[in-house]
Amino acid sequence: MTSNLQEIINKAESTHELTKNEIVELLANDEINQVLFKTADRVREKYVGNEVHLRGLIEFSNICSKNCFYCGLRRDNKNIKRYRLEPEIIIDFATKASSYGYKTFVLQSGEGNIYKLEEMLHIISEIKKLNVAVTLSIGEKTEEEYKAYKDAGADRFLLRIETTDKELYQKLHPGMSHENRVNCLKIIKKLGYETGTGCLIGLPKQSLESLADDILFFKELGSDMIGVGPFIPNEDTPLSSETGGSFELALKVMAITRLFLPDINIPATTAMETLNPQGRLIALQSGANVVMPNVTEGEYRDLYKLYPGKICINDTPANCKSYIAQKIQSIGRTVSKEYGFRKQLR
Ligand code: 5AD
Ligand code: SF4
Repeated sequence: MTSNLQEIINKAESTHELTKNEIVELLANDEINQVLFKTADRVREKYVGNEVHLRGLIEFSNICSKNCFYCGLRRDNKNIKRYRLEPEIIIDFATKASSYGYKTFVLQSGEGNIYKLEEMLHIISEIKKLNVAVTLSIGEKTEEEYKAYKDAGADRFLLRIETTDKELYQKLHPGMSHENRVNCLKIIKKLGYETGTGCLIGLPKQSLESLADDILFFKELGSDMIGVGPFIPNEDTPLSSETGGSFELALKVMAITRLFLPDINIPATTAMETLNPQGRLIALQSGANVVMPNVTEGEYRDLYKLYPGKICINDTPANCKSYIAQKIQSIGRTVSKEYGFRKQLR
């Protein structure tokens, strides 16, 4: 068995291709996980180098019109105080954080028409004046809206597919459609955004086969960034009594994604650090090359509660950055001063 697993890993390292069965075999067996992680680390170094890109995350509103079963921001959760930052405050957070050296901001919020289109365009174009790359993570929109954000200067868009298992997707996302999600991703790609997607690990009834399909989907879409995180049950949601995902399995999906898509950007996700105090460092040594520190200020850090145990909620953006920069240097890596666009193989 071990030698078969080793052969699969060797094949992935040299060809960056695997069959669905081979991916499932890697996911189902834990004998040589450390070899998998080391191989993903080697592939990361070869294709995207030793620099770690920091993206400053601004969680600008926790209002959401959707009702995803796993998420604390879901519409029906009455146990959180909702907020909506004024455009000038969002621009101010970005301005402060850019003075600490951030070259990219990720603007994330719940879904819905929380801001008028003109307000979003104003926020994007003002932040672009800071000479930074702008990533949006604001959910499903119309093609016209995606195009307008792009024209205002947005460079990248994150929209996780969450799961490629259609049946499971429909169960966990009432009133939403898997087809529309895929369609949004195709539009985002077509419009020329650097396109980010990703999935949750450990959703109820999620199979290893469907995780293999997720990885195949990432490649088929032509993703530029992939975020993989364990599902962490939130007590204010219908999935409160579920077990949740494991750190190790999330790490394995991430590592195989690196073998599959060697030159993309892969964040060490915050949810990984929530499950393991060294989670982000371990992820950075198992295929990841990006970290997204939170640069939202004040009480809003705590109010953006997708899942419990979120790290750094009582910290300030400045502390958060120097803490993570030190950690990155402690494992022999450097903090990039670049925008961190994908350096695509041709
Ligand atoms: N556990 C882990 N990740 C979650 N997300 C939402 N709720 C949870 C949870 N309970 C993730 C989703 C979403 C991203 C913004 O946060 O994958 O795309
Ligand atoms: Fe809203 Fe996103 Fe949470 Fe779904 S995952 S409830 S769309 S914030």
